[in-house]
Amino acid sequence: MTIIAPSILSADFARLGAEVTAAEQAGADWIHIDVMDGHFVPNLTFGPPVIKAIRSATKLPFDVHLMIERPELSIADYVKAGADRITVHAEATVHLHRTLHQIKEFGLPAGVAINPATPVSVLEPVLDDVDLILIMTVNPGFGGQSFIPYSLDKLRELRVMLQRRGLQDMLVQVDGGVNTETTRAIQEAGANVLVAGSAVFDKADRKAAIAALR
Ligand code: DX5
Ligand code: ZN
Repeated sequence: MTIIAPSILSADFARLGAEVTAAEQAGADWIHIDVMDGHFVPNLTFGPPVIKAIRSATKLPFDVHLMIERPELSIADYVKAGADRITVHAEATVHLHRTLHQIKEFGLPAGVAINPATPVSVLEPVLDDVDLILIMTVNPGFGGQSFIPYSLDKLRELRVMLQRRGLQDMLVQVDGGVNTETTRAIQEAGANVLVAGSAVFDKADRKAAIAALR
């Protein structure tokens, strides 16, 4: 079963609540929320107040992807705003283990993300501390970029590592350049959670768009 998590980064920000509701009606499993701080990534999006404002627009889980420096300083704010799961970047904190456990202490599943140029080996020490691993397949910051092909090798390498550790049930998420051309190879390489921004929100028929990605 593949989980489809449309990213509201590509939604119409002027009608964000309605866009989230539409994604639910179109068959999305999670709502992916890209938080960017203008430091860790070269773009600035939204934070806890906006997440709180759209919380009532859907019953779907809010999958919050923090592309912010020192996420440990604001985990509590995202929990209060309505996050159902939180993913932080390994590159964004010098205290990754502590930050992951901070998320779990709130009772939320914790995810770790790595950028395209970060090796999979970085994940090895925290494999038992996470519920989800996010392999970025574009350099984070913007929607609509092209999938970086060597990401497929990273996914395969991760799958071998998970198998060795008896963690084959891990959620393995992919974010960036997921579309009808790349979805098959991504799933074959081992991803079971697909984030898609432009491939869902830029399409008039979101239901068909989500079905095509599955
Ligand atoms: C990238 C974001 C993604 C982005 C994906 O910085 O983390 O979630 O919205 O956009 P698409 O699917 O258009 O590549
Ligand atoms: Zn994302």
